[in-house]
Amino acid sequence: MPESSINALKSKIELFPRVDLIHMPTPINKMEHLTKELGGPEIYIKREDLTGLAFGGNKSRKLQYIIHDVLDKKCDAVVTWASLQSNWCLQTAAAARKFGITPILVLFKSYDLPDEYDGNMLLDIILDAEIKIRDAEKGRVVRPEDAEDVVEEVMQEARKNGYTPYNIPLGGSMAGGSMEKPIGSIGYVESFVELEVQSQYLNVDFDYIIHATGSGGTQAGLVAGACALGGRTKILGISVSEGKENFSKLVLSIARDTANALKLKTVPLSSDILVFDEYIQDGYGIVNKGVVDILRFIAIKEGIFLDPVYTSKAMYALIDLVKKGYFSGKDKIVFYHTGGTPALFPNKGLITSFLRDNKARA
Ligand SMILES: Cc1ncc(COP(=O)(O)O)c(C=O)c1O
Repeated sequence: MPESSINALKSKIELFPRVDLIHMPTPINKMEHLTKELGGPEIYIKREDLTGLAFGGNKSRKLQYIIHDVLDKKCDAVVTWASLQSNWCLQTAAAARKFGITPILVLFKSYDLPDEYDGNMLLDIILDAEIKIRDAEKGRVVRPEDAEDVVEEVMQEARKNGYTPYNIPLGGSMAGGSMEKPIGSIGYVESFVELEVQSQYLNVDFDYIIHATGSGGTQAGLVAGACALGGRTKILGISVSEGKENFSKLVLSIARDTANALKLKTVPLSSDILVFDEYIQDGYGIVNKGVVDILRFIAIKEGIFLDPVYTSKAMYALIDLVKKGYFSGKDKIVFYHTGGTPALFPNKGLITSFLRDNKARA
């Protein structure tokens, strides 16, 4: 049975305290030129890249709840990890600094980039985050089991240095480390509620949300929100790193934990989790011609910058699915722009060389 109303769901979310960190609601706009160009469904974009914290992105929605928990537990440092140019780590470092907390980041080199300070890493350095760099396999995303020992080591070192550290699991998505519940994912239940309100004043019923999925919390929160309000809107998660079989199980488990934490009347089922792994292309974080063509196409058509690791692959998927007839001409689709644009800059060499090649071929 769905929640009785948007307000009923809102009051369940409000039981979870959070800090004031981001600009909400994020804007929603129609992608007029893209819609026209594809000649199929109506396409809208929700600008989660405009949350405001450290160049914006989906992670700051999660951090509203997580930073509150860090302060509640009287911790004065956060330890988290991801890849070298991680959007998650940057957002965490900025949110931590805003609340007087020391950010300690473990960054894995899972793709070939020069060690120079650029993109998110430059911003991490400006924030004076404590940074530990570790090697990782190229083109394969680092998994929690690969990071567990080093994170524990860093937690112990932080304690030795006099901190009371808080261990935030990957992407702030699942429960684990110092987080008993998937409170980050609640941020995306709230984003779904926000979208429902926007859909009412736009007078548009959305059939699909499509977005890049990585550690699963964004998708899990959106699915939990959609199920709670009746399940009409389908959530399509475009994986940038993991095969769909195992990843769908992870998203389902976060979505169910999130629904249970919120005491929702409807708990998501495996049939609610729709993951596509066909668009990982050459591997996690690897910038190829397809990615650069999409970056350029959306910049030219809509004046919007996507990022090269997440949102360009999700947009690639959206365009491909429209061309393959996955959607009907009457469908209304929201593309979630989840941020990540600082990663354009450390990839400038590759991006410009693909753009130059295109020009030479024309
Ligand atoms: C720009 C961007 N989009 C999407 C995602 C995926 O979000 P989630 O980790 O909640 O699945 C990430 C995660 O790092 C991201 O940085």
